[in-house]
This record gives sequence, C-alpha cells and structure tokens, in this order.
Amino acid sequence: MRMNSAPGKEILALVREGDYAHPGEADAVDMVFRGLTRDPERLVLDVGCGRGGTADLVHRRGWGTVTGIDIDAETLDAAASRYTEIDFRVLDAGRIGEVWQSRFDLIYLFNAFYAFPDQTQALREMHRAAREKASLMIFDYTGRDGSPHDTGTIDRRRPPFSHQGWSPLHPKHFPELLRETGWQVEQVVDFSAAYLAWYRRLCERIGANRERIESGYGAEWYEYVLKTYVELYDAIENGRIGGAAYWARRA
Ligand SMILES: C[S@@+](CC[C@H](N)C(=O)[O-])C[C@H]1O[C@@H](n2cnc3c(N)ncnc32)[C@H](O)[C@@H]1O
Repeated sequence: MRMNSAPGKEILALVREGDYAHPGEADAVDMVFRGLTRDPERLVLDVGCGRGGTADLVHRRGWGTVTGIDIDAETLDAAASRYTEIDFRVLDAGRIGEVWQSRFDLIYLFNAFYAFPDQTQALREMHRAAREKASLMIFDYTGRDGSPHDTGTIDRRRPPFSHQGWSPLHPKHFPELLRETGWQVEQVVDFSAAYLAWYRRLCERIGANRERIESGYGAEWYEYVLKTYVELYDAIENGRIGGAAYWARRA
C-alpha cells in the first residue's frame, strides 16, 4: 500500500473532491500563482502532474498551454480521459531533457519533487527543457530545523519518513542545489502554517469519508490513509516538516 500508487491517489481525489494530491488543492494553486498574467501562449510543464487537476486548473485560469508528465501510466490514463485539453505524457522527471530542449516558459511541481529518487538529475533535466529566463516553481514539503536532514541521517522507521521516497526540501541545502543546477532563486514563500490547517482539514475529511473508502477499497486502505495523514499532521505540528514554494529563474 502506497499513497503514491493509483488507488492511493484515487482515494485522495475522492477525499479532496478534486484530482489533486497536494495540500490546499485549488486554493494552494491560486495562492502560488497569484499575480501571474493570463497568457495562453505561455508554454507550461507540470512535472509529476498526477491525476491532472492542477494542470486543468492552470489551463482554465488562462495561465498557459499545459503539458503534464508523470511516471505513473495508470494515473495518467485517468487524467487524459478527463482533461482532454492537456497533453499528458508518461515520462520520468529524470529524462525530461531527452524529449524537450529550451521549450518551456514555466515549469512547476506540486508535491512531486520530494518523491524523486534523483533530485539533482531532475533539476538538470528541467533546466534543459526550460527556455532562457524561464521560471521554475516548486511547491513542496520542507524539512525544517530538527529535521533528520540536519543530522544527515534520515530515520526511515520514523513517520513520516517511513513512507517510501520521501525527501523534503532542506531550507539550507535546497537553494544551494538550485544554484548548482543552473537555477537562480528569486523568492521563497513559507506555507507551513497553511500546511497545518490544510492537513487538519484533510484528516477530518478522511474520517468523514470512512464508509466510502472502506466500501470502495477495504478497511485496510482506510486505516492506512488515516494513519499516514495523522502522522504527517503531527510532524507538521511539531515542526519536523513544513511546506514552501520556491521560485527560481533559469540562469
Ligand atoms: C503526491 S503526487 C502529486 C501529484 C500532482 N502534482 C498533484 O498535486 O496533484 C506526486 C506525483 O509524482 C509522481 N512521480 C513520482 N516520481 C516521479 C518521477 N521520477 N517522474 C515523474 N513523476 C513522478 C507520482 O507518480 C505522483 O503522481
């Protein structure tokens, strides 16, 4: 059982009442892109787009022509059948530059980067696919002071790091990594307080949807989903993790 599997994302979409697998759903997208001008000519890439709700929202807001990529073919099938205006492709974030070079004006990721096994490679590949002066926006979990990153040892037995593929952004090391891979950091917005409120709401919604989850997927899935997000909420509340949006420009 994994949240980052097709049924995991399906359950999240049911609970969140939209095809989103990031905290804050449409509100978060609107907060992050507030001030962005409408421009259907802008070429936009959504990396780790999941079920496609964010790509569809960006398209509907008129912020650009959106391509969505994800490594999970089953999830992309669902996205492609619902959002026909979006060009969805099955692709590993670590191979983007093999498909596109100097193409996109804006590349964004909502809670996908933390799951990449090779984050440095993904940043390099996004750099290859970006036009000169293109923008990169990464909205994701952060490991704040006291995070296992600070000691250099991630204890994967302790929640939430016990989940597979969990590497939140380190407030000190991540800006360095951006610079090393050709990205100039322009703005960092801390969303930790909003994450706390959003995860509290998510835990409440999971409880409210218990019957639907159990009847559609079984009691074990319900227990797993609830435990996962209660652990995540606790980790945010005690400051082990948070959330932020990083804006950078292709140097
Ligand atoms: C938590 S979901 C977020 C989905 C979407 N961005 C959203 O906000 O709804 C993370 C997504 O990253 C995708 N992903 C994980 N590793 C990937 C990789 N190496 N390349 C592309 N996508 C990847 C997963 O399949 C999953 O759909």
